[in-house]
Parts: sequence; C-alpha cells; structure tokens
Amino acid sequence: MENIDWKSLPFAYFKTDYNVRCYYRNGKWGKIETSSSEYINIHMAATCLHYGQEAFEGMKAFRGEDGKIRIFRWEENAKRMQRSADGIMMAEVPAEIFKKSIVKAIRLNTKHIPPFGEGAALYLRPLLIGSGPQVGVKPADEYLFLVFVSPVGPYFKEGFSPVKVQISRDYDRAAPRGTGSIKVGGNYAAGMKAGKRAHDEGFATVLFLDSKEQKYLDEAGPANFFAIKGNTYVTPKSDSILPSITNMSLMTLAEDMGYKVERRPITADELSEFDEVGACGTAAVISPIKLINDRDTGKNYEYCKDGKAGPVSTKLYNRLKAIQEGTAEDKFGWNYIVE
Ligand code: PLP
Ligand code: COI
Repeated sequence: MENIDWKSLPFAYFKTDYNVRCYYRNGKWGKIETSSSEYINIHMAATCLHYGQEAFEGMKAFRGEDGKIRIFRWEENAKRMQRSADGIMMAEVPAEIFKKSIVKAIRLNTKHIPPFGEGAALYLRPLLIGSGPQVGVKPADEYLFLVFVSPVGPYFKEGFSPVKVQISRDYDRAAPRGTGSIKVGGNYAAGMKAGKRAHDEGFATVLFLDSKEQKYLDEAGPANFFAIKGNTYVTPKSDSILPSITNMSLMTLAEDMGYKVERRPITADELSEFDEVGACGTAAVISPIKLINDRDTGKNYEYCKDGKAGPVSTKLYNRLKAIQEGTAEDKFGWNYIVE
C-alpha cells in the first residue's frame, strides 16, 4: 500500500501508474491498450482542440469493508457517454469497451484505491476526444477513448459539512436545446467565469438558473440540486442540466425510504419554503447547502441553522454511501464487483 495520507486527499489529479486507451480508426474500435505515460500525442488539428469534440465521465471505485472493489452503476455512465458522443457527433464507445477499460484501469492501479473508511475513493475519468484532424467544421475520422484514475477526497473541501452557494444572472452555463444535458467540456468552460467569481466571493459553487427565463433553478456547478420539503424530495426538471446518476439513485432511495419524489421546474422563489437543500453528484456525493446567496437581489436563503446537514440529507447520504461501500444491501443491483 502506498504511503498516502488518504484522509486529506483533495479532489485533484494524482499521478497513478497506468491509464488505458482505445482508438477508433477506419470506422472501428481497436484493442484496449495500457500506457504508463501521462501524455497523449495528438494531431495539432485534432477536432477536440479546435471544435470541442470532447466528452468525459466521472465515476468512483470504492474499497469496501469486506475488501472488495465496487463500481457504482457503470452502465449508466456508459450510456451517458454514448449520448454525449451522439450529441457532438463523435464515435460512440461500445458498453463492453467502456466496461473493460474502466475495470482494467482499476486493476492496474489497485494500490491507489483508498482503503475503506478514509472518506476517499478512486475517481475514474473516462475521456473521449476527436483525435483526427479537420480544419473545416466537421466531425473527426479518428477518436481516442482514454481512462485515467486518481484517488480523491471530497469535491467541496467542506465534505459533508454544509456549503454556501451563489445565484447570479450574468453568465449562463448552457442553453435549452444546447449541450447542457450531455457531459461535454464546453459546458464546464462556459461555467468557469461564474464559478471563479463565486469562489472569490466565498462560495463553493454557482447555482445556475435556466438561461431562457432565469426563473427556474438548474443545477449547482458540477452537481444537481435537490431540496427536501416536508415529506418530499424535490429536484429540478430541465432540458439544460446533466441527468445525474447520483440524483437518479437518490430519487430511488428517497422513494424506497417512504418519501414522495417530485421532478419539476423549481422557481428561485421557492427556496424560502425548503427544509433542506443540497448538491449531489459523483464528485460531490451529497453536499448539504447552508446558504444560497442571490448575488443580484442580495437575498440570502439559510438552512442548517445548527451548522449540520439536515436529517433527510444525512439519511440519504448514509444509505447511498453504505450501498457503494458494500455495508448495506445492494437492493437495486447498482454495484459491479471488480474483485
Ligand atoms: N451536473 C454536472 C454538470 C456534472 O458535471 C455532474 C457530474 O458528473 C453532475 C451533475 C452529477 O452527475 P453524476 O451524479 O452522474 O456524477
Ligand atoms: C463528477 O461528479 O464526477 C464530475 O464529473 C464533476 C467534475 C466536473 C469534477
């Protein structure tokens, strides 16, 4: 085992031993290759560099108390990456290649999987790029699918402690009928200015509004938004947010735990009616939100008045984590056991 301070791992790049690559050339996918280089050699006119033909996924592998390595709902990530590829006209990675590649990347880097109970996980980053050259705006003929891994701690440094987020109206992340619902790099570039300013002003992330009317809540930076109102789990329905696999799982768990689940447009005005609010995603897991600042009106919405996550968010967090780490029954068949 590596001499790593797992408990203080940030959510950041960490060099591991190997990554896995597969090329699409002449209309077909090739062999899955292993590399120990952190670099890729691509054509200077590759479409990923010029025209944004790039999509990625984010998933985690967990070491359980029983020593087993589990990955959570990989099929959903594989499907989402196919949707992303289709959305920006890239070659789709077949599910079998996706699965073999992530499993291989995990097995080659087992010494970097954080031990159980350290609050860390092995983050998997599948990446698909247009690697073939074009100067005219059209799809590449060649693609590279790559998976690297990195042991990580919580995305927001606060972990499961409540964070502050900011609503602003001068930057949009994604347009309706644009690329907001797929996981392409351009969405993240578009959100960087608002995100950086929010950080500089003391907030963990931005809570984006829908860009058409600026009336409804969209999502919270690299995570979906959810709220608890009495006995109901509420989360935005919007064409410009990423369908989060964590959120989808929380909706199932909430229902299973006897809560009502609503997926519907949520106006910013409703923020004053919620008992608990949070951000959810692979990287963020559940990040409870203690304050939402509306930068334009100056209005603050406050939650977690005792400084702690609310009871429903806590229950959901514990149940999700227990399934992922194998300490609770995998009732919905979400885990794939690598070894
Ligand atoms: N929304 C955005 C914009 C994201 O980048 C992510 C992270 O993948 C999520 C939501 C959460 O999705 P998931 O739960 O599938 O990780
Ligand atoms: C994830 O939650 O896995 C993500 O991909 C978020 C990422 C942009 C850091």
